Amino acid sequence: MDFNTSIDRRGSHSTKWDKMERLFGVSPGDGLAMWTADSDYATAPCVIDAVRRAADHGIFGYVFEYPEYLQSIAWWMQTRHNWTVDPGWILTAQGLGNAIALCLDVWTDPGDAVAIFTPVYHEFAIKIETNGRIVTECPLQRKGATYVLDLADAQNRLTGREKLLIWCSPQNPSGRIWTADELRAVSEFAHRNGMILVCDEIHHDLVYPGNTFVPLDAVAPEGRAWTVYLAGASKTFNIAGQRTGNLIIPDPDLRAAMKQRLRTLDYNASSLALFMIEAAYSPAGAAWVDAQMLHLQGNREIFDAGLNAIPGVWSMPLQATYLAWVDFSGTGMTHEEVSARIRDVAKIAVSPGPGFGTGGETFMRFNLATQRATVEDAVQRMQRAFADLQ
Ligand SMILES: Cc1ncc(COP(=O)(O)O)c(C=O)c1O
Repeated sequence: MDFNTSIDRRGSHSTKWDKMERLFGVSPGDGLAMWTADSDYATAPCVIDAVRRAADHGIFGYVFEYPEYLQSIAWWMQTRHNWTVDPGWILTAQGLGNAIALCLDVWTDPGDAVAIFTPVYHEFAIKIETNGRIVTECPLQRKGATYVLDLADAQNRLTGREKLLIWCSPQNPSGRIWTADELRAVSEFAHRNGMILVCDEIHHDLVYPGNTFVPLDAVAPEGRAWTVYLAGASKTFNIAGQRTGNLIIPDPDLRAAMKQRLRTLDYNASSLALFMIEAAYSPAGAAWVDAQMLHLQGNREIFDAGLNAIPGVWSMPLQATYLAWVDFSGTGMTHEEVSARIRDVAKIAVSPGPGFGTGGETFMRFNLATQRATVEDAVQRMQRAFADLQ
């Protein structure tokens, strides 16, 4: 299990590396890509073996969502998250971005509103708006070193047109793991306001030692009648390019509605994706994820110590995710100045905080799923870029 051998991704049609110059003005020649959420190290050997077996077989014909594939997902949720999932609840989408778009399609109409708790994964708002729906932002509140919910404030922000609430657990960005009480409160909030709750748990495996992820369904099972769960291996195993992820829907009526939409759109899973998931969700895959988290823990410690040493810069302590959420408000600089220094001096492509909605204005998000040496390099670049503050 090697997370430190350098792998040159430039020229491999990687969105993260080969699009960064066009999107962020940072050349892959001497820059670092620390934006979109995929990892710079190879996936688990058991997953690569599954692809090799398929290649050796040489036939890439049609497949169906076969029982061992569905069982492996149920096994993973049970053994890793203590969440009992009936394989019959599981549907397959082309990634969770796609699953979110499908939920918007099935359970809202153009002109409806969709609630989100910000700052949150920027694509929630983008998907809502590009599908002709309206974003209702409910800002999280900063409390000490983390975010907390303010449901009374959220209640006041609802317009009455919300049909859906898209919830992120653990939160991207900030890596907050929500408690059982918070999850129950969100579930009840959605129900009280007549919203279907889409609970996106894509980052649930990327939990740092000493923390435990709480699956919403395990603590609020009464919410099944109005909740759709999203989970996937794309972040955990760095297989986002396979475009696969799961909708887990215990309620038969909600599930039937989604199944029908998948049928009308002629959705069928890719064979390689299914083989890779089955291989990933296994004891060998679990051991690899544990090792990955130790690697990320080391990355996070070096990154946080290095960034926090810059006066006015503060990296929020993560409970989960490999996405560092860094506040530059203490520097007194505008977002434009911070961006220019990171782009032109540090030469790092990062995800700009304002894209994550209200609360993200003074932040930048850095992806730490890379080799240790790259994190060390990034810290030095950042310290140089803000050296006048030292
Ligand atoms: C919270 C969240 N949901 C969904 C996605 C998209 O996942 P996929 O690549 O499976 O579409 C991401 C990717 O960063 C994410 O962070």
